[in-house]
Amino acid sequence: MRSGAPTPCPSTAAATVGGMSYSSNGADAGSTSESAFTSAPNTAPIPSPAAVHAPWLRDAVFYEVYPQSFNDTNADGIGDLPGVTAKLDYIASLGATAIWLNPCFDSPFQDAGYDVRDYKKVAPRYGTNQDLVDLFAAAHERGMHVLLDLVAGHTSDEHPWFRASSQPERNEFSDRYIWTTSWVEGAPGLPFIGGVAPRNGTYILNFFACQPALNYGFARQEKPWMQSPDSPAARATRDAMVDVMLYWLELGADGFRCDMADSLVKYDDDRRTHTIAAWRDMIGRVRERFPQAAFVSEWGRPTLSLTAGFDMDFYLDWRWDGNPNGYCMLARDTDSQIGGAPDASFFRATSGTGAARFVREYLPQYEESRGNGYFCFITCNHDCARLAPRLSPREEQIAFTMFLTMPGVPYIYYGDEIGMSYRELPTKEGGYTRTGTRTPMQWNGGANRGFSDAPAEKLYLPVDTSSDAPTVAAQEADPESQLNYVRALTALRHETPALQSDGLFTVLHASDDDRAFVYARTAADGSSVVVALNPGLEPAAVELESVPAGVGGQVLLSRGGSAALEGSRIVLPAQSATILR
Ligand code: GLC
Ligand code: CA
Repeated sequence: MRSGAPTPCPSTAAATVGGMSYSSNGADAGSTSESAFTSAPNTAPIPSPAAVHAPWLRDAVFYEVYPQSFNDTNADGIGDLPGVTAKLDYIASLGATAIWLNPCFDSPFQDAGYDVRDYKKVAPRYGTNQDLVDLFAAAHERGMHVLLDLVAGHTSDEHPWFRASSQPERNEFSDRYIWTTSWVEGAPGLPFIGGVAPRNGTYILNFFACQPALNYGFARQEKPWMQSPDSPAARATRDAMVDVMLYWLELGADGFRCDMADSLVKYDDDRRTHTIAAWRDMIGRVRERFPQAAFVSEWGRPTLSLTAGFDMDFYLDWRWDGNPNGYCMLARDTDSQIGGAPDASFFRATSGTGAARFVREYLPQYEESRGNGYFCFITCNHDCARLAPRLSPREEQIAFTMFLTMPGVPYIYYGDEIGMSYRELPTKEGGYTRTGTRTPMQWNGGANRGFSDAPAEKLYLPVDTSSDAPTVAAQEADPESQLNYVRALTALRHETPALQSDGLFTVLHASDDDRAFVYARTAADGSSVVVALNPGLEPAAVELESVPAGVGGQVLLSRGGSAALEGSRIVLPAQSATILR
């Protein structure tokens, strides 16, 4: 089971500060290859999808809420859980049926809450556990679901488990984290910290210096202190995580978004054999009690993650060594957060990029993972730059047309529905360049754009008060607004089975030589819808590979003019998006 074991990269200096990479598995630290896409399929048995996926995922639309920036109800300058509850009707009005709530647990906030100090306690700045229970109940009353963010791979260095683990005397938590057995010994290929704990050893990090890695074992035990994924210590870590999940599910949570899900077991192989086994064990045990619990991984490789028991995985913002994944080819193929630099993204009017490049990267993953779960698209998330202002409003609308009509479950990041902008700001709570994507929601033209009644200088992050800053209130009143277009797209999705999570995806036209991208989505009953996109500055006329049965060219929704279908030929206006039947 340990084929293709990679060579760990050279030892990191002791007293490392800061994270190494998103995939701190050790096996491929330093490697940026995407070769997993072409390696042999995982032969391990796959859980039957029909048995595991909650039926509501078939027509789900997620809305990601960054709690500190959404809605402040007690004028302390920080968003809170009662603020999310108060906006549930707004979230529902977007056609969203579910929420991914970023971490809301007790934390010193060195990484915006991804450094958990107590998994079972809501951070006081967000409210109480009862406030979270109230949010679950209010969501359920509206037929909505709430997924919490489970940081399974590491804790804060202020977590009581870690405090106990740092002690020289053996105790229940001595092996909850990964410690070497000497203060001068590091872990080959993994970031570690020395010199800060009374225990004679150094400990492994997952991301930032404040985030010690929990011990899920090593695929290969090269040193005496490396334990196996089957060891009692690794098992105890998994038990602790199952316990956390059951705790919140019992209180009404509907599932979890699982942080850095691919890197639990260190020195794992390219196929993540042991990490997949760890998740199957944990998710399997949770599903025995809560068969409907939903899981989405932060992984970015659905051919692996969906075999681990996750229902959903989404494209991450990966453009390592200048090699963009399919998602970046579409929307993020540039070095610039704001714009101005060369941008090869498909959605950029001037990029000249055709859709074939994306299709070559996406289609094999879609086909291999189809039936195991959902390979999803996000508009953005709290880790990447918002599309605006780099994409113009029209470019964003073309992008949204695609993201909300692709297979899988779409994820809208708060504020993207009104085209909120990425802003260059100093780092906050470990955000660094991510900070500009995490600013307060812009509700209306009032003080602090309706986010908070606190004085402006007390806000978590400055609100965008520029005169052209989009707001919900202004866009509600404008039928042509991004907000109302997003609502129209989700409404169409909800009433059209072909556009929902399971509808088949077929490419009708994608080329390297022109800008048109035309695809069909087809429901189980054979009914189809065609989506026609042309981000380019020139109209396009292309011959489709085929026209699905029953599609006659009736326009259901469009922006920038409507594409016209005549036989198998389609004419697409410049900078347009059309959905036809
Ligand atoms: C994930 C989160 C990110 C966090 C990191 C460490 O990538 O999305 O925000 O900093 O994990 O937990
Ligand atoms: Ca507050």
